[in-house]
Amino acid sequence: MDLIGDLRNRIELNRLAWLATNGCKLFAAKKAIACFHLDDDTLNAVSNIRCEGDEEATTAVQEALAIIEHHSGRKAEVWLNPYCRPPTLPNVLTSLGLRASSVFFTLVAEPETVRAREVRNLLIWEVRRESRPTTIDAWAVTFQHAFERSITMRETEAWKKAMEDQKARFFVGFRQAPTTLGGPWPGHPAVVGQLLTSHEIGGIYRIGTVPTLRGNGYASAMITHIAHKAAEAGLPHVYATIRKPKNCRIFEGVGLQEVTPQTQIWR
Ligand SMILES: CC(C)(COP(=O)(O)OP(=O)(O)OC[C@H]1O[C@@H](n2cnc3c(N)ncnc32)[C@H](O)[C@@H]1OP(=O)(O)O)[C@@H](O)C(=O)NCCC(=O)NCCS
Repeated sequence: MDLIGDLRNRIELNRLAWLATNGCKLFAAKKAIACFHLDDDTLNAVSNIRCEGDEEATTAVQEALAIIEHHSGRKAEVWLNPYCRPPTLPNVLTSLGLRASSVFFTLVAEPETVRAREVRNLLIWEVRRESRPTTIDAWAVTFQHAFERSITMRETEAWKKAMEDQKARFFVGFRQAPTTLGGPWPGHPAVVGQLLTSHEIGGIYRIGTVPTLRGNGYASAMITHIAHKAAEAGLPHVYATIRKPKNCRIFEGVGLQEVTPQTQIWR
């Protein structure tokens, strides 16, 4: 499926909004966007390059890379899609010593069509502004296990703010079993996900299942739940961007379709 005009723009804008709500700093550098995150290297990137010629592009990319390195102390990637200008950007990046290393896959669906096999023992809660802190804690604990990395106070604060501003919606799924009754949560925290609603599209992000509970359909159930929340909010499309090709299967399995063109990651 080709990604055309308006849908492509909405995905791009929603993705930038998602980066901002997740604690990224976005700098509109000269003719490019520099994004950096102090705790998550995978979000340090130059994107949206819009230049008129190779010389201008070389300066813009160098400047944006320098901003990110200065603030984060780490190297950044360049996210290159065919809407970046000029078309000769691959040559520019090569001359700056960068190489195309992988791609982001973008998958899209109409939210009502997203369906997973039913899982009976999963209860999904939305973390709300007025939720007791324990629900927010459940999100953070599950995120750390699922993504196998610790999170910082800075990230937690960014998420709380996004929640308070109602810019992003956070979901956590609990695996229900008789032995877990009576604790602070209605089961064992198993799976997380985020929905970012802006620019009339739903971005599905941060899908993760704790390692010991993978393969039970929890991620598929979470994606479906989030898509249905997007449908309830009246959004005509949902999308996800995936770095690992093997993870595309889960999204395709519930009905999202890969779109072209993809975004190249240069480093
Ligand atoms: C990617 C990830 C979220 C998958 O989570 P998961 O809960 O294991 O995913 P699911 O169980 O829904 O799907 C995994 C497999 O189980 C199968 N499955 C789906 N429903 C099932 C069910 N009810 N019972 C048993 N198996 C089921 C799926 O068909 C899928 O098989 P496949 O890999 O052959 O397609 C998980 O590996 C993870 O958290 N990884 C680290 C974080 C990450 O990289 N997230 C990236 C998101 S883009």
